[in-house]
Amino acid sequence: MTTPIHVGLLGIGTVGGGTFEVLRRNGEEIRRRAGRAIRITTVADLDTERARRIVGDGAEVVADARAVIADPSIDIVIELIGGYGIAKTLVLEAIAAGKHVVTANKALLAVHGSEIFEAARRRGVAIGFEAAVAGGIPIIKALREGLTANRIEWIAGIINGTTNFILSEMRSKGLDFGVVLKEAQRLGYAEADPTFDIEGVDAAHKATIMSAIAFGTPVQFARAHVEGITALQAADIRYAEQLGYRIKLLGITRRRERGIELRVHPTLVPSSRLIANVEGAMNAVVVQGDAVGTTLYYGKGAGAEPTASAVIADLVDITRLHTADPGHRVPHLAFQPGAMAETPILPIDEVVTSFYLRLVVADEKGVLARITGILADNDISIDAVLQRESGEGEKQTDLIILTHDTVEGRMTKALAQMQALPTVLAPIVRIRKEELS
Ligand code: HSE
Repeated sequence: MTTPIHVGLLGIGTVGGGTFEVLRRNGEEIRRRAGRAIRITTVADLDTERARRIVGDGAEVVADARAVIADPSIDIVIELIGGYGIAKTLVLEAIAAGKHVVTANKALLAVHGSEIFEAARRRGVAIGFEAAVAGGIPIIKALREGLTANRIEWIAGIINGTTNFILSEMRSKGLDFGVVLKEAQRLGYAEADPTFDIEGVDAAHKATIMSAIAFGTPVQFARAHVEGITALQAADIRYAEQLGYRIKLLGITRRRERGIELRVHPTLVPSSRLIANVEGAMNAVVVQGDAVGTTLYYGKGAGAEPTASAVIADLVDITRLHTADPGHRVPHLAFQPGAMAETPILPIDEVVTSFYLRLVVADEKGVLARITGILADNDISIDAVLQRESGEGEKQTDLIILTHDTVEGRMTKALAQMQALPTVLAPIVRIRKEELS
């Protein structure tokens, strides 16, 4: 019988605890799949008392992460500390020490991934990061291996559960953002500081990683266009619904002739699409490949055992390939390191989408004509128009316009012209729309 592979864990919280529990419960089946038992032998956490409570006598607990990295009996280090600070230093030190690394740290990989993958390649070790994108959904595996025959055209994902929960509640209960955020925090969905979630940063980290894998380009978080859901109003969710759409915070990356779109923003999606019906804290990713067509991946994007499922899948992969020649392992970003493309990420002005606009206008003759005239002058074609009482009396009205696809720069120019009209009485609401067909 072969000896177990030894694993060191840096940072034990919810996901670390889940990883322990699943390895304990399913250890025998996992051993039969991996070919060797997988044993977490050492856990490093500053809060050693809490760590001991979680692992019992299942592993040694230390306060110093570097003791794990220096331990020659450990082959794989799991990093569950998070953030770009000490986590980055420790991951690079683990690589330098010849350890394989498994991490759930999307922020670290989206920002410093190129440096980390290059260090790992030079040292001949693997970085597993299935848990970094969409928690328990095996989307990295799907993109990197299952869809490897395809030219990927686009990916659109609900990849932040907190914001999807908030949007679902806003829609079903007709509540405003601030009210639902407080409820999400009370229920423990949203962090005490939910900034990364609600501002779209967490989703953009994940979209950045998927984009790099889909198109064989370096990870470039700094080029992503990021908009969160803090400015969304209940009225727009209601109007979108009347027009047959739902608003979702989507991470989108799409191949265009001149480059790659990489963006996160609230998006109108036709209610008939499966992804529009993903509710609560669930995640879903749609991938469009030229050979396979559209595929959809759905599941829990966070939580102890769903994320542990992804962490352990990486442990099994690495255990299977541990002794394989590094040149023949699956490349970190799907494409061979020497075959990466330099396709640029497009600035947001060059992105092509359709739009939902809501204007609060004076209810006077000629107002609609002037607005549609501005759109026509900017070569923007209208798809639908809806006029509704705004609830602010007879003298003003809400005007909702859906457009066909246009270049964002043109829309920005048209919006400035419309906003300058004296009959436009409030800041114009502009939400991008994707048919995802
Ligand atoms: N905070 C994330 C979410 C989970 O709400 O989906 C971890 O990425």
